[in-house]
Amino acid sequence: MAENNQNAGAGNIPAKPKPAAPGAAKPAAPVAAKPATPKAAAKPAASQSGVYKPPVDRPDSNPYKDSRISPLGTWFQERFHVVIPVIDYLKKKEVPKHRLSFWYYFGGLALFFFILQVLTGLLLLQYYKPTEADAYASFVFIQKEVSFGWLIRQIHVWSANLMILTVFIHMFSTFFMKSYRKPRELMWLTGSVLFVLSLGFGFTGYLLPWNEIAFFATQVGTEVPKVAPGGTFIVNLLRGGEEVSGETLTRMFSIHVVLLPGLLMLLLSAHLLLVQVFGTSAPIGYKESGLIKGYDKFFPTFLAKDAIGWLIGLALIIYLAIILPGPIGIKANPLTPAPLGIKPEWYFWAQFVVLKDFSFEGGELLAIALITIGALFWLIIPFLDHRASREEKSPVFTIIGLLYLAALLINTYRVYAVYGW
Ligand code: HEM
Repeated sequence: MAENNQNAGAGNIPAKPKPAAPGAAKPAAPVAAKPATPKAAAKPAASQSGVYKPPVDRPDSNPYKDSRISPLGTWFQERFHVVIPVIDYLKKKEVPKHRLSFWYYFGGLALFFFILQVLTGLLLLQYYKPTEADAYASFVFIQKEVSFGWLIRQIHVWSANLMILTVFIHMFSTFFMKSYRKPRELMWLTGSVLFVLSLGFGFTGYLLPWNEIAFFATQVGTEVPKVAPGGTFIVNLLRGGEEVSGETLTRMFSIHVVLLPGLLMLLLSAHLLLVQVFGTSAPIGYKESGLIKGYDKFFPTFLAKDAIGWLIGLALIIYLAIILPGPIGIKANPLTPAPLGIKPEWYFWAQFVVLKDFSFEGGELLAIALITIGALFWLIIPFLDHRASREEKSPVFTIIGLLYLAALLINTYRVYAVYGW
């Protein structure tokens, strides 16, 4: 059994309705009429009027109707039937306190950066024009002419970087705390898809300013699948033709503003729903060894601490947006040769340098195969780490995690050492 907090069991939705307040009216009788005889009950059939009647009474879908809440709460409860169970749940939800609790804030921080991305992205969309002829000019216009356009654009750029950094931290911290262990495997799987989607945002967004660096980096990036079997099809699909062109811009734009946000919100809903169902886990053995120093109520204590983290994140983004604004560069010209030292965004550096290391005959395919196998192995770790599922320490998987982390950091640094930022 995983180490849940006391309330994490069955999703914390109360199984029984609260007793009615003294003097309150009794719950109304169920709407469906009872069958007259047992024989009639056994045979679901159309009533005389031809309307289908269920064989048994349906359970009352609003068993909380007699609870005392504000008129507004009652209004919503009558329409959605979930307000009271959700309030009950939030009142009971708790987060364990221990020396590693700090790492619990990174999931919420990633969520905050994503929300910022949606808000600033919507504002940028009011002026951005996703065509080969106008994209670059519209970016310059946003940056130089639109009131606070520069700030919105820079927040979007920095929040994107911090979101991906936070997702990396969140992934590794949940890994080392073995939060993926039974029954949380699906949190790991949905999280992994969220990770890929976050990288997808970075990749597709990079081309949108249609500047020289973005153009050539996209050319290099979209070329990668070519060496794999069926890769030419993927390259053409991504580019909308054989070369990077205005068609590629249209594809990247639609993926960036429609497909990825839709998928991410879907997966995020599943991820967060699972967090509510299972509650927050504690590291293996912490409960038994007395290392849990109590529990924070999620509402309002943990949420308030989360909010402090969000405010610090926002302050950091505004600071970075002002002192280190992302450049606009010069407009892409497909007819000019690629400038020297083209490299992707920092979050692809580790894979980029592996591809460079393997740039011998047949090496790129080998590198793609190795990276894919490494990623798939990482994905299925919850199903391999049986010791953690039994609430036993699993040092082998801790070492595997450390090796992944070291490879990521060393390879990222190698690109920095050669190319700089
Ligand atoms: C857009 C990206 C993501 C967002 C917004 C997000 C959000 C969250 C939030 C708010 C929580 C609850 C608080 C916490 O424990 O931090 C959480 C928990 C969790 N996340 Fe994520 N997450 C994301 C990506 C990932 C990734 C990439 C992984 C791993 C591959 C992952 C694995 C988990 C796990 C295992 C938990 C459960 C932690 C526990 O029970 O203690 N998440 N996530």
